[in-house]
Amino acid sequence: MSAIPPASAETIDTSKPHPARVYDWFLGGKDNYPVDEELGRQIESLEPQTKYCAQHNRWFMRRATRHLAEAAGIRQFLDIGSGIPTEPNLHRIAQSAAPEARVVYVDNDPIVLAHAEALLTGTPEGATEFLEADARDPDAILEQAEGVLDFSRPIALSLVALMHFISDDDGAYDIVERLMAALAPGSHLVVSQMAGDFDPERTRQAVEMYKAGGVTLVPRSRAEVERFFAGFELVDPGIAWLPDWHPELGVDEVRNGTPVPLYAGVGRKR
Ligand SMILES: C[S@@+](CC[C@H](N)C(=O)[O-])C[C@H]1O[C@@H](n2cnc3c(N)ncnc32)[C@H](O)[C@@H]1O
Repeated sequence: MSAIPPASAETIDTSKPHPARVYDWFLGGKDNYPVDEELGRQIESLEPQTKYCAQHNRWFMRRATRHLAEAAGIRQFLDIGSGIPTEPNLHRIAQSAAPEARVVYVDNDPIVLAHAEALLTGTPEGATEFLEADARDPDAILEQAEGVLDFSRPIALSLVALMHFISDDDGAYDIVERLMAALAPGSHLVVSQMAGDFDPERTRQAVEMYKAGGVTLVPRSRAEVERFFAGFELVDPGIAWLPDWHPELGVDEVRNGTPVPLYAGVGRKR
């Protein structure tokens, strides 16, 4: 399927939790290990609505992709921090609107690649590729994605529930700037991110729990999330609480009114 070299299953470290697998546990998936479930249960004891929030994040990905493919006419997607495939995946949404849509998924967790190769099949007219790379090395991602995407045409850069795993010290803002700088005018940036200003004390405890599991979690305020979009035209309604970002684009969403402490936004490069 892909020209990109596969990772070995032997590189999957099951001795400590990994964000992709903890998230898979939140979503009710089977591609996680006891260490992932243990951290998931700790977080759930702190915030009983965590599984609902994870599902909501997935729904936002679908709504944003629908908006991009249907209303904004985007035909190319670069989805970094794609996660273990969970139907419906981004390419399914994009290619059901436009079968010729080309999608490159990127993740740095080898378990994602192991499942992606087996599960990600797209339309014959389009492209669905996966590459194992780290968001902290944007140049490597751009170089490899060039084989699949046409950088002279608009691309949607999808960073859904990724940036709260990348600290400012690791260059979070520079990474987004570098990636967006490589994209043509009319390209879009999609971000969802854990809020730091919703319930600061509980957020602090969640950060500690992740840290004890060896995972860096970086919640951000609304203003800090908006900073990712500096210089771009924010799509209405701007940076919103995630469930409030174009709820009318939702399909099969089951809402219970519980607040979801995640911000979401979509911006357009002029
Ligand atoms: C919470 S999951 C989100 C999955 C998917 N984007 C979604 O929203 O449904 C975060 C993903 O980001 C990946 N990730 C974390 N840090 C990363 C990095 N530095 N480079 C690439 N992927 C990363 C994790 O492996 C995980 O699959």
